[in-house]
Amino acid sequence: MKELYKGKVKTVYQSENPDEVLIGFKDKVTCGNGKNETVIPGKGAINCEISSILFEKLHRAGIKTHYIDRPEPNVMRCKKVDIIPLEVVVRNIATGSIIRETTIQEGTRFHPELIEFYLKDDSKNDPLLTPDRMNLMGYDNVLFHGSAFQINTVLKEIFNSIDIDLVDFKLEFGLHNRSIILADEISPDGCRLWKKGSMESMDKDLYRKNTGNILEAYQEILTKLKAL
Ligand code: C5P
Repeated sequence: MKELYKGKVKTVYQSENPDEVLIGFKDKVTCGNGKNETVIPGKGAINCEISSILFEKLHRAGIKTHYIDRPEPNVMRCKKVDIIPLEVVVRNIATGSIIRETTIQEGTRFHPELIEFYLKDDSKNDPLLTPDRMNLMGYDNVLFHGSAFQINTVLKEIFNSIDIDLVDFKLEFGLHNRSIILADEISPDGCRLWKKGSMESMDKDLYRKNTGNILEAYQEILTKLKAL
């Protein structure tokens, strides 16, 4: 199979259908821009299934995504898109970079949520963008803001129903037949998830901070999502 893109934790292959790709989830976990990495057997399939369930639920809520199906435990079949080089971060509760870079207190709840845009470019260290900079680069700030808001509304409700607070997460979008659709993955690698009402992580922070077992936490999230 032709490899189209090899990322740190996922590889994208061309599918037999020219309009589709296969995204293989690896068992690797990395942090610090790839400086630390560990192989955790089974993690790829868990993240792939979590991501697939969330994309299916978003689709049912009327959100257009690249997801088609999951032909193998660690493979998602998706529409082929041109990834838009933006990282869209939604924050419901303050933690992570926002508390390092501002005077906002950890745990502050945002009403409405904060929606931030970063340029997806490792060589420039993924800088935070302003709406004006985004518009100058040709990205419609209002459109992305609206989609991120809608997606957050659906995801927050899903996690709330399984007793998890959706703290923050990152989204990526892609162009498919001239429309902008949700792409990439939605998994605990790119979200912060706290046990409801606490600050107890069930996400990649367990690995970043070396405070627990990500496989157990990710499996618990998957089990709860499957029981919905
Ligand atoms: O580091 P920061 O607090 O800005 O991250 C916000 C959210 O976006 C976190 O859930 C993090 O996992 C996610 N993120 C990501 N990939 C990046 C940057 C942030 O998944 N490159």
